[in-house]
Amino acid sequence: MKIIMLGAPGAGKGTQAKKIAAKYEIPHISTGDIFRANIKNGTELGKKAKTYMDQGLLVPDELVVDLVVDRVNQDDCKNGYVLDGFPRTIPQAEALTEALAKMGQKMDYAIDVNVPDENIVRRMGGRRACVGCGATYHVEYAPTKKEGICDVCGAELILRDDDKPETVQKRLNVYHEQTQPLIDYYTEAGILKTVDGTLDIDDVFQAIVDILGA
Ligand code: AP5
Ligand code: ZN
Repeated sequence: MKIIMLGAPGAGKGTQAKKIAAKYEIPHISTGDIFRANIKNGTELGKKAKTYMDQGLLVPDELVVDLVVDRVNQDDCKNGYVLDGFPRTIPQAEALTEALAKMGQKMDYAIDVNVPDENIVRRMGGRRACVGCGATYHVEYAPTKKEGICDVCGAELILRDDDKPETVQKRLNVYHEQTQPLIDYYTEAGILKTVDGTLDIDDVFQAIVDILGA
């Protein structure tokens, strides 16, 4: 099963993609996580990506497309995968469609996690990310057992650089301009499914399972 997660920054794509990956035993491929790992490791790709990410801008398509196409060609993707944060522009979507077509494949589902902008700003301010393993939490909606400490690995939690309020607004503008057109793109492709992302995390997941099958 090959799945794309669509939705605004903070809509809950990552939260749901992790649950999908666990239930259906397919890899979770997050371009945001790949960039953050590269930044942490000080790679050339990380240095380039950081200048865009810190401003709330998208990393240029040419830095993203090959990376994802290489990743989905790896062995562990044979039975499918869930893409989180990619594609994010029409050229990225076209490049993905083309690359898959060359292998005689196509995407099965594009799931739009729909959340209005007002809710997003509140969510991002409360999100906390683990410096050790990248797990994400929310101070109110997905708290850790011990405040400020990751449940998974015990490392410290931080507010992401791009989750500051002024950057969040910028990311939302970028989303509406560059990523929202993908809703029409995947509607035309006949694979778009929309879920209400304002529900509780488990209820959003149930709606997704209803679509994908138990
Ligand atoms: P990326 O990491 O993909 O960020 P994003 O799309 O902005 O998405 P987020 O990770 O912020 O949010 P999410 O939807 O995953 O929400 P989450 O589950 O964490 O990308 C970062 C940057 O990298 C981009 O800005 C760009 O610069 C660059 N980049 C990445 N991919 C790119 C690409 N393809 N092309 C170009 N540039 C690219 O949830 C948010 C919070 O809400 C959490 O705290 C969570 O616990 C909580 N929450 C989740 N669901 C619920 C719920 N139902 N109810 C209450 N709280 C909830
Ligand atoms: Zn951790």
